[in-house]
Formats: sequence, structure tokens, C-alpha cells
Amino acid sequence: MRLLMIGPPGAGKGTQAVRIAEKFNLVHISSGDLLRAHVKGNTAIGRQVQQYLASGDLVPDGIVMDILRKPVVDANARGGYVLDGFPRTVEQAEIAYSVAQTLGVEVQVVVHLEVPREELVRRLVERGAASGRSDDTIDVINHRLDVYDEKTLPMLSYYAAREKLINVNGARPVDEVTWSITVQLQQMAKQLAGD
Ligand code: AP5
Repeated sequence: MRLLMIGPPGAGKGTQAVRIAEKFNLVHISSGDLLRAHVKGNTAIGRQVQQYLASGDLVPDGIVMDILRKPVVDANARGGYVLDGFPRTVEQAEIAYSVAQTLGVEVQVVVHLEVPREELVRRLVERGAASGRSDDTIDVINHRLDVYDEKTLPMLSYYAAREKLINVNGARPVDEVTWSITVQLQQMAKQLAGD
């Protein structure tokens, strides 16, 4: 199975992607984790993207596509993936679709986590205090949420029009959210097997 985990910052994309990957024996790929690893490793890409991550702005599409291509193809060869944090814009979704079609790794399901803004801010402020993640400061959190509303939310209609979208209430305890996603994916997996 090949699926995307979409949602605003703090919605639980990473948390749920790890759990779903384990349950369905898929590889978890996080665009944010890959970018942060480049920054930490002080690579050429890391130096290019550092400022985007620090400010909460989106990294240019070309860079994101370059770092994701190999992990996605490798994961597909191992049975599928849960891709968390990508795509972030209609443009990225369109580019991803044509590249994935060429490579035979098209997305089958998109899980969209919905959580009210006050709860997102609460979670991220709490994580910032505990982990020191540099973009979890109140100003950058608010900017990341604004960027999501402006650039990523419109992308959901792109997937809804293709009947791939599963909307999940992410404002519940972690186990409940996992259960809800699992049930819907099991149904979807049956449909995909019957295709
Ligand atoms: P990215 O790493 O993708 O960060 P994000 O979207 O801001 O998401 P977060 O990691 O903050 O939240 P999450 O939804 O994964 O939630 P999590 O499970 O961690 O991107 C970072 C940056 O990289 C971007 O700003 C951009 O610059 C760049 N970037 C990445 N992808 C890009 C792309 N495709 N194009 C361009 N640029 C890109 O949980 C958050 C917290 O909440 C945790 O503390 C967790 O324990 C807690 N939590 C989770 N679930 C629950 C729950 N159900 N109840 C209570 N607490 C919960």
C-alpha cells in the first residue's frame, strides 16, 4: 500500500505514520525528518534549506522532490510506504503524480488528520518546551499554521476529486486515532485487493 499522511503542523502525522507503517508493514518516510537530517549533517542541501525550516516556510519543490525520489522508490520495492509531510501544495501533488506515474509508485490513499488550531498550538508549544525543536516557537508555529491554511489546505480538494481521501478526527487520544485510521485502511486494502 502507498499512502500519504496529510495534516497541519502538530496534527500527529509523524506519530500516526510510525504506527500505521508498523501495522501494515510499510516504510515510514518523513520529508521533514529527511530535511532536518540534512541540516544536522551540514550537507549542501542542509545549508540551502536551513532558513526555510527555521522560519516555517516551505522548501522549494525541486529540493524536496530530489531528496524523496530514492526513499520512495526503495520503499515501494519493499512493499509500500507511509509518506508524511509531502506533498504540501497543489503544485507538489501534480509533480508527484506525474513522477510517480512514470516510476509506477502512485499514491493509493491519502489520510487527512483534522485538529482544531488551538489544540495544534498547545501540542507544538508543549513539544517545543520539551524537545527544543527550533521551529516550535509561538511565532514560527503560527506562521507554519498560516502556510498550511494558505498552501496545503487547497490541495485536499485535489485528492478528494480523485476519491483517495480519508478524513480522520485527529483531536482524540493517539490510540483512538490509530484505530480509526486502521479500520478505514483495512477497508481500503480490501477494495484495492479486489481491483
Ligand atoms: P514537518 O517535519 O513535516 O513538520 P510539520 O508539518 O510542521 O509537522 P510536525 O512534525 O510539527 O507535526 P506532525 O503532524 O508530524 O505531528 P507529530 O506527530 O510530530 O516539516 C517541517 C518543515 O520542513 C516545514 O515547515 C518546511 O519548512 C519543511 N518541509 C517539510 N516537508 C516539506 C514539503 N513537502 N515541501 C516543502 N517544505 C517541506 O505530533 C506533534 C506533537 O503532538 C508531538 O509532541 C506528539 O507527541 C503530540 N501528539 C500527536 N498526536 C497527539 C494526540 N492525538 N493527542 C495529543 N498529542 C498528540
